Amino acid sequence: MQLKGSEALYKRAEKILVGGVDSPVRAFRSVGGNPLFIKKAKGSKIYDVDGNEYIDYVSSWGAIILGHADEDVLRAIYEASSNGTSFGFTNPYEVELAEAISERIKNAEMVRFVNSGTEAAMTSLRLARGYTHRKKIIKFVGNYHGHFDPFLVKAGSGLATYSLSSSEGTTEGCIADTLLVDYNDINSVIDVSEKNKNDLAAIIVEPVAGNMGVVKPDLSFLKTLRDICDKLGCVLIFDEVITGFRVSYGGAQELYKIVPDLTLLGKIVGGGFPLAAVTGKKEIMKKLSPVGAVYQAGTLAGNPVATAAGLATLKKLTRDKYEKLEDYGQRLEDGLNNILTDLNIKGVVNRVGSMFSIFFNTETVKKYNDIKSINKFPEFFWKLIQKGVLIPPSQYESMFFTLSHNEEDLKRTLEAFRAAMNVLTYE
Ligand SMILES: Cc1ncc(COP(=O)(O)O)c(C=O)c1O
Repeated sequence: MQLKGSEALYKRAEKILVGGVDSPVRAFRSVGGNPLFIKKAKGSKIYDVDGNEYIDYVSSWGAIILGHADEDVLRAIYEASSNGTSFGFTNPYEVELAEAISERIKNAEMVRFVNSGTEAAMTSLRLARGYTHRKKIIKFVGNYHGHFDPFLVKAGSGLATYSLSSSEGTTEGCIADTLLVDYNDINSVIDVSEKNKNDLAAIIVEPVAGNMGVVKPDLSFLKTLRDICDKLGCVLIFDEVITGFRVSYGGAQELYKIVPDLTLLGKIVGGGFPLAAVTGKKEIMKKLSPVGAVYQAGTLAGNPVATAAGLATLKKLTRDKYEKLEDYGQRLEDGLNNILTDLNIKGVVNRVGSMFSIFFNTETVKKYNDIKSINKFPEFFWKLIQKGVLIPPSQYESMFFTLSHNEEDLKRTLEAFRAAMNVLTYE
């Protein structure tokens, strides 16, 4: 494996792009070594600028589900872009994509397109506050909703509701209304929501957590969130930026049969382009401008090329495709569990559909503090690279596969993981 081209590009990039990247995790800080620079990707494979091929389990952090450079999506992009790349007016793809979303996502009675998951989360918060005329929100430790200031909080030591900023540049006032609670901790949510019942605008949650590795929700946890919001008249926001169109045809809300008030979509919805959406109940969505008094706007929102790519992607994501993903996922999960047993390594595979994680030194992960980080993760990561498998360069990110991952990929993946897990057994 050669990294000459990546090395040279990183040296140049570091001088002009902050940290050599446009999103921090791409800098490989938690695994060391030279970040990969990518030249192209096709199907389940991704290629760096040095010509090395990897089976891709990053899948653009969950944005790619059909496989890279899908021919039908490419055709749709070409067709749309040949008619112009941006109009600043509403285009037919926006309407058709919104209808396709509404057909799949139960709660999506109305849709507002934006450009990123961050923007969707930001908009949903303003909307929930505008709708309820209250200001506080409950957010869960280890859940990520983009980089809008009120979501950039971390837990204070031992106190479920004491928030500290996890970023410089945010004001105390900005995070003062964010109440932090442990994921899957029903009693704390009940307690915190009761104590703040007159001020609570929303509970925002990743219905399957994907930003501390994959952590499954207890069904009773999600049900309790729904009950609390019904009782207190606050807005339940499902952040399905990852799970939407990934964990099932209708997202996590279909899988767990719990309908939120607002749903955030991103990643897959744009077919690889910068597109996201706030969707939800008509009564709440109609509070958005120009119908309501909650302001939101965007020059490139609903961009014709992005919405065409999203539409082409959703059209191919028929219900049977999720059975295919589940089949690959189950065999991958079984294979990884066998390796853990064979090598006598303590660990657990958490998987929902085509998103999965392996946690080491533990047998259950239900909340952030259950995660035990491993010192040898860098060696583990680079061994996988050496064996032609790319996973996220961080222990806290989930892995994703696509409809393009095939039998041969599965075999090679399991061989690579066996070699990489072996590294963990050396002193
Ligand atoms: C659950 C969730 N919400 C929101 C976001 C923010 O999306 P974006 O990176 O498009 O701003 C992410 C990004 O990874 C996410 O995983």
